[in-house]
This record gives sequence, C-alpha cells and structure tokens, in this order.
Amino acid sequence: MSTGSSTDAADAADAADAADVFDEPARWRAQAARALDLRDDELIAAMSPGPACPAALESVLTAVRSAGRPVELVVDVGAGVGGVGEWIRRRTGAAVVAVEPAAGARDAASALFPALSVRPGTAESTGLPDDSADLVVLSGVLSLIDDAGDVLRETRRIVRPDGLLAIADLFAAGASSVVSGPNVFRSFEQVTSSLAVRGWTILDVGCGAPAPSSRWAAAATRVADWVGRAHRDHPAFDAWLADQRHLRSHVESGDVVGGCIVARHLAMGTLP
Ligand SMILES: C[S@@+](CC[C@H](N)C(=O)[O-])C[C@H]1O[C@@H](n2cnc3c(N)ncnc32)[C@H](O)[C@@H]1O
Repeated sequence: MSTGSSTDAADAADAADAADVFDEPARWRAQAARALDLRDDELIAAMSPGPACPAALESVLTAVRSAGRPVELVVDVGAGVGGVGEWIRRRTGAAVVAVEPAAGARDAASALFPALSVRPGTAESTGLPDDSADLVVLSGVLSLIDDAGDVLRETRRIVRPDGLLAIADLFAAGASSVVSGPNVFRSFEQVTSSLAVRGWTILDVGCGAPAPSSRWAAAATRVADWVGRAHRDHPAFDAWLADQRHLRSHVESGDVVGGCIVARHLAMGTLP
C-alpha cells in the first residue's frame, strides 16, 4: 500500500515508465471483462473508472443537449479501452471515433465496444479531417501530456466551428500545477485560461471527488482483482500497479480533484 510520500510517487512513476501501462494491461482488462461477464454500464465503468465519473460525464451530456444543434460525430481522444466513448455514444446516438495510441487499448476497445470506430492516433496528431467533430472529449489524457498547446491546437483544428470540447481529468487542487511522475495536473484556472486565449468559451467547470462513484469504482476493482490473479507475474503488471498507486497517492494527499471543463469554440459571426 502506498504511503503517499513523494518518494513513493517518484518510485511509482519510474516503474510506470518501464512499461506501457496502457497497452498490455488493457488487453488483460478486456479479458477480465469477458471472464466476469460484465455488461452495459458495469462494463463501461470497469473500463473507464475516471475521476468524478459518472458525474463528470453527465456535465458533458448537459452541454450536448443544450448545444442547439445535433451532435453527430464525437471524437474520444486518448480513448483507452473506450468506456467513456461508449457511454456518450449510448446516450447521444452520435457516431464515436475513438483515437488511441496504444495498440492493446485499441484492440480491447474494438472487442468490447464494436460500435466505436477505433483508430490509431494521438492528441497532438489525430489524423482526422479539419472541422469534423461536433464534440471532442479528452478524458484522463491532458494530465499525461507536457505540452497542452499542441493538444489544444489539434483539438481546434478537428472541431467544427461552434463545436464542443470536454476535458475530464484530475486537476490541481491549488493554483499551481502538480508535476509528478508521468503526470502534469493543471489547475482549472490554467486550463480555462489556455482555452480562453484560443477562442474557447467556457460553458461549465464541474469540480468533484477525485475518485469515481462507489458503483464505478466497484466495477473497476472486480477487474483489477481478476487481472491481479491472472497476470501478477508479468513485468507490465508491476508497472500498472505502480501507476495506480501513484494516482491514489495524489488522491489521498488531496493535492488533486476530479473535474470536467466543457467549452465551445464560437464560430466567427456568432460572437455575442
Ligand atoms: C488514463 S487513460 C484514459 C482512457 C480513457 N480516456 C478513459 O477515460 O477511460 C489515458 C489514455 O491516454 C492515452 N494517451 C497517452 N498519451 C497520449 C497522447 N499523447 N495522445 C492521446 N492519447 C494518449 C493512453 O494510451 C491511455 O489510453
């Protein structure tokens, strides 16, 4: 069990660097989901137990419903195993493109959520056409990336005029970024300022518990326990576990909070 000290966090980050925690472990999580016969929202929760979920996703849904025009194409960037994209797809009826760099996560997402259109790419280079998305979602991704500028440039390129962006993540509880291991936890103020200077209007800033709801966490725990029993001797398992401890140490220390920022990029001519 992590003590939450900075040494633990540094050790955990080193271990996490040793293997891609989003690749092979994603395949194991898909195996676990099949073995446990998880379905519907329990499957989604187990695959995407993001901070403040599902409340963070509800705020995205509210923005979609008040968008004033249909949301037909959603791009889930850094989609992982695809739970968030599938949650939004089921509730909006939109087509969802899941862009994900890790092959293991892409394979798992395709197998578990066949209605998603899964493709390789990164947040800095999605490979998608200009002005194509009605909504871009970054769930748990921005905090893994040093240069938010490249991500926001790419997001702006692919979102259509008047389109939406949702950033669900862990954020710094204070005014300054928390830089730790593979993560940069930015403050709400830092992210909303970066968006505002790039022409985004902030529609909603929701702040919540840094952990998912107990129901979502329980589903993820069932999967983690199954993975532990089946794969604990694999070298990537230690890295995966270390990454989870690293995140938990921040949650327990209180230096991060969960949240979701929803913004709209106003088209020229629609400025108030
Ligand atoms: C914490 S997981 C979140 C997955 C999913 N969005 C969710 O909420 O369940 C972070 C994901 O971001 C992906 N990722 C890491 N760096 C990325 C980058 N530069 N661009 C896009 N995705 C990235 C990882 O492969 C991983 O699948």
